[in-house]
Amino acid sequence: MFKVVPISASATHHLRREVLRNGDPQGVVIWPRDDDAITTHYGAINAVGAIIAIGTIYPQILPENATNRAIANAIDASRQFQFRGMASDASVRGQGAGWTLLQRLIAHAHEQRPALLWCNARVAAIGFYEKASMQIVSDQFDIAGVGPHFVMAMRIS
Ligand SMILES: CC(C)(COP(=O)(O)OP(=O)(O)OC[C@H]1O[C@@H](n2cnc3c(N)ncnc32)[C@H](O)[C@@H]1OP(=O)(O)O)[C@@H](O)C(=O)NCCC(=O)NCCS
Repeated sequence: MFKVVPISASATHHLRREVLRNGDPQGVVIWPRDDDAITTHYGAINAVGAIIAIGTIYPQILPENATNRAIANAIDASRQFQFRGMASDASVRGQGAGWTLLQRLIAHAHEQRPALLWCNARVAAIGFYEKASMQIVSDQFDIAGVGPHFVMAMRIS
């Protein structure tokens, strides 16, 4: 089993590189906002203390390219949260680590309810976020070097 706890920014680097940058040793894994005081990095930790899933969250307003802006209606900027860097170790996929991590990110936003939670979702991960009741709120767009994405969001009341 595993538990989800806050971790340091640097503790995300291994999984960011392996999962989100395809193991590229040159892949950039230090990201803007990582060291902001308001940023929280979470990790799912297994029984032997290894980090098997990660995600990072901070306040950030819904981006301009979100075409369904009504989802953010009447939610203060300080209660709009972006999460990013969501990844689970390939060896544990399908065992609930990603889901438990995502529930922790939702709970983080829930502490400020009413809140908005959003992310730039890779096309391959859309089904995962839809399971958590997030919805697509933008047209498809490309993130250079990573691929096609949609903005996905959910209101938390
Ligand atoms: C997306 C990701 C984080 C999911 O993590 P995971 O540990 O495999 O997820 P879980 O095992 O907790 O899965 C929870 C549920 O979501 C489903 N699910 C997982 N990934 C899914 C996907 N990509 N599409 C649709 N459903 C998915 C699982 O089947 C499971 O469903 P169930 O409860 O009915 O069995 C993981 O696949 C990953 O790291 N992918 C590569 C990186 C990536 O795309 N990150 C997202 C960037 S936006």
